[in-house]
Amino acid sequence: MRPLIANLEPDSPLCAPFTKAMRAEHAFLELRRFPDGETYLRFKSDVSKRHVILLCSLDRPDDKFVRLAFAAATARDLGAKSVGLVCPYLAYMRQDARFVAGEAVSSVCFAKLLSSQADWLVTVDPHLHRHKSLSDFFEMPTVAVQSAPLMGDWIRRFVERPLLVGPDEESVQWVAAVARETNAPQVVLNKIRSGDRDIEIRVPELDHWRGHTPVLVDDIISTGRTMIETTKALKRAGLRSPICVGVHGVFADTACQQLLDAGVQRVVTSNTVKHETNAFDVSGILAAAVSDICGLKP
Ligand code: R5P
Repeated sequence: MRPLIANLEPDSPLCAPFTKAMRAEHAFLELRRFPDGETYLRFKSDVSKRHVILLCSLDRPDDKFVRLAFAAATARDLGAKSVGLVCPYLAYMRQDARFVAGEAVSSVCFAKLLSSQADWLVTVDPHLHRHKSLSDFFEMPTVAVQSAPLMGDWIRRFVERPLLVGPDEESVQWVAAVARETNAPQVVLNKIRSGDRDIEIRVPELDHWRGHTPVLVDDIISTGRTMIETTKALKRAGLRSPICVGVHGVFADTACQQLLDAGVQRVVTSNTVKHETNAFDVSGILAAAVSDICGLKP
């Protein structure tokens, strides 16, 4: 029987293409708030003996997690054969250490919470830095799919003479993967972060690259400060106005406009988080990974 996809975000850009790629059916849900703000959830489709896939990107995660936990527990309670999570953006992965005494190591706390909800998890390019793999701290089968082939394809089609630029050491993994796809040259800069929005970028000698189009590659664009400060540093070094490519366009407040105001040519992201900058679609790679992890052939 075809799997059922329960979409937990009304405006998900992935719901239609992912359901199609999976050759799945929609599970109909009623999702609303009680007058006091609490969450109401009801499955209107019969999930008994069905494989249920919960689709929910976890940007702005605190509210969404409650929805996801209620949906997972209810699907099980109603007799679902299995419950899997497709979370195209996985929140809380950057707080992967106790940097200051007493802090929550949110990545580990959140992994424990998610692991107790479902049978498996598929996500796109999670921020893995101090944790080398999701299996190090998740207690369920996980698959992390890579969007580098999609980013590489976009860059090959739309950018002349790209120079891939990683703003910091943590971006090396994405820059290197995109470089393999594009054969473009790469440089990685040095970032010093002293606060959520306080960032300094140090660049090496870049004169050689003045005839190239800098393409900043990173996994997450949140406040945009990393890319804004990188843009300013590249301009001071005499390089052209860059293009910013991010996997997850989380965009706090007016981050995207601030990037454009800083002189960025264009900002593009994948559709893991709905945004006007979405330029490449991860539904196909997600569907292939789901089929691998649980044997649900698309
Ligand atoms: C952290 O190292 C990530 O890879 C990104 O560079 C970071 O999350 C970007 O954040 P922001 O846009 O707030 O500078």
